[in-house]
Amino acid sequence: MEKKKIITIDGPAGAGKSTVSKALAKKLGYIYLDTGALYRALAHKALKDKISLEDTSALAKLCFNTTVSLKNIDGKMVVLVDGEDVGNKIRTEEVGLAASKISAFTVVRKSLLNLQREAGLQGCIVAEGRDMGSIVFPHADYKFYLDANVEERIKRRYNELLAKGAGVEYQAIQKDMMARDYQDSKRKIAPLTASADAIIIDSTGLSAEGVVEKIIQHISYHFAFKG
Ligand code: DC
Repeated sequence: MEKKKIITIDGPAGAGKSTVSKALAKKLGYIYLDTGALYRALAHKALKDKISLEDTSALAKLCFNTTVSLKNIDGKMVVLVDGEDVGNKIRTEEVGLAASKISAFTVVRKSLLNLQREAGLQGCIVAEGRDMGSIVFPHADYKFYLDANVEERIKRRYNELLAKGAGVEYQAIQKDMMARDYQDSKRKIAPLTASADAIIIDSTGLSAEGVVEKIIQHISYHFAFKG
């Protein structure tokens, strides 16, 4: 496949974006950019510093006083907060829900926009998030919107957390997923949406490898017929 492309993968929580994006990037020799990690990183600091997740000026101060950066480690963009790798600390349900809350604020989205676009400048990137195809990379070469029915997304998230050894309750995951779906799709700025030119893939009942295969087929078809 031709180099220097930007591939975007948007979709709701639990649709399998991370697994698919990571595998796709690896297969193509591209860099994987997980933009949810940027929102999670800020949310993690907000929780740690006991900053209100609903106070615009407190969030503005947080963004101003925090240096979020990306470092390419073995093809994955690792997020650094004030120079420190936040690693798995940002992977909890609590941080995910907080990230969803603060991501509805313009000041937060603006503070992370350039960083994401700069990461895309070098090309050869698979960028995963909610607004990759609509706002961050509107001119991306290939746009995908990955969805799955809500029961399957809850089940996947539950199994993922169980596998990590986290003590989780199914009902709690269900509640968080509903809240995140609502917050991410109803917010005024950059809501979760499939841009008109995105290819929608329903991953319900499909394995991650099956979805990657479908994406590669779309790309190869497009490349063969449109160049
Ligand atoms: O992809 P994720 O679940 O790690 O993302 C956590 C939250 O961050 C998600 O619920 C909404 C927000 N987010 C966003 O608003 N825009 C993005 N491009 C990525 C994530």
